[in-house]
Amino acid sequence: MTSKRIRKAVFPVAGLGTRFLPATKTVPKEMLPIIDKPLIQYAVDEAIEAGCDTLVFITNRYKHAVADYFDKAYELEQKLERAGKLVQLEQVRNPLPSHVRTVFVTQQEALGLGHAVLCAKEVIGDEPFAVLLPDDLIWNRGEGALKQMADHAERIGGGVIAVQDVPREKTSSYGIVATRGFEGRAGRIEAMVEKPAPEDAPSTLAVVGRYVLPPGIFGALESTGRGAGGEIQLTDAIASMLASGSHYDAYRFRGTRFDCGTHIGLIEATIRFALDHEKLSEPARISMQKALDELGVTDNG
Ligand code: UTP
Repeated sequence: MTSKRIRKAVFPVAGLGTRFLPATKTVPKEMLPIIDKPLIQYAVDEAIEAGCDTLVFITNRYKHAVADYFDKAYELEQKLERAGKLVQLEQVRNPLPSHVRTVFVTQQEALGLGHAVLCAKEVIGDEPFAVLLPDDLIWNRGEGALKQMADHAERIGGGVIAVQDVPREKTSSYGIVATRGFEGRAGRIEAMVEKPAPEDAPSTLAVVGRYVLPPGIFGALESTGRGAGGEIQLTDAIASMLASGSHYDAYRFRGTRFDCGTHIGLIEATIRFALDHEKLSEPARISMQKALDELGVTDNG
């Protein structure tokens, strides 16, 4: 069975980002930069590469920064033009290719990721779509993670969820899936549990913030009650679809994922992108070495 290619991507960005307070008091987590691009830009680029032409941002009423970022900035453009800063002008002039449109939907209350996805129902309609959590940043030299997943989803005609192996003691920070085994990078999911204790986890395969979902997820979300933390959990809705026989594959994408929702993840991503950067690689390496030397940090601490 093959299904329609995904065209629409949902970016739930209405969370409070409490782990990055005080910065996130005024700057949304998705606007934190890795080098010179905010996290949201990396996720948007990945969605466009996967073939998406409609980007749906689920925001809250306090977050204007994301919408402003993708909007025109007339005054800034004029200033750059007058100053002859043409490279920078190009960077701010066309944040998105001309065939791509943006839609902003307000999540009235932060009732969880599942609820945020449900807010996209009217815009998505009756077709498969992607969900990307921008704080999961996936670094890759080849095809992006979502492109790999979208190709796979088209082949199987079902949902696809990005997964990666995590140490068993970390299962309680993730959604964990159980599969019937893997063929290549994909394995059919039999069950999915949100944040299980290590001793209860059915595997160590953790869900990462990239999903290709069938439109049936909206009905499942509507009948999902509030779960852990009083929030409507996306995992619970997917679990209920699995229980009624829906096909979802877990997909081990090529690429390295950085959890930029945590301090260390943001630092790791910055180091990786700097060391892989055309101009910054050498100065970044020298500066890291200098810091290690000056602080007396050695292999054995
Ligand atoms: P997180 O669990 O990372 O929560 O949400 P958070 O609020 O962003 O960050 P912390 O934990 O307080 O630091 C996962 C994703 O779901 C979105 C978030 O914006 C993030 O992309 N989300 C979460 C919503 O859009 N709405 C919600 O009600 C909750």
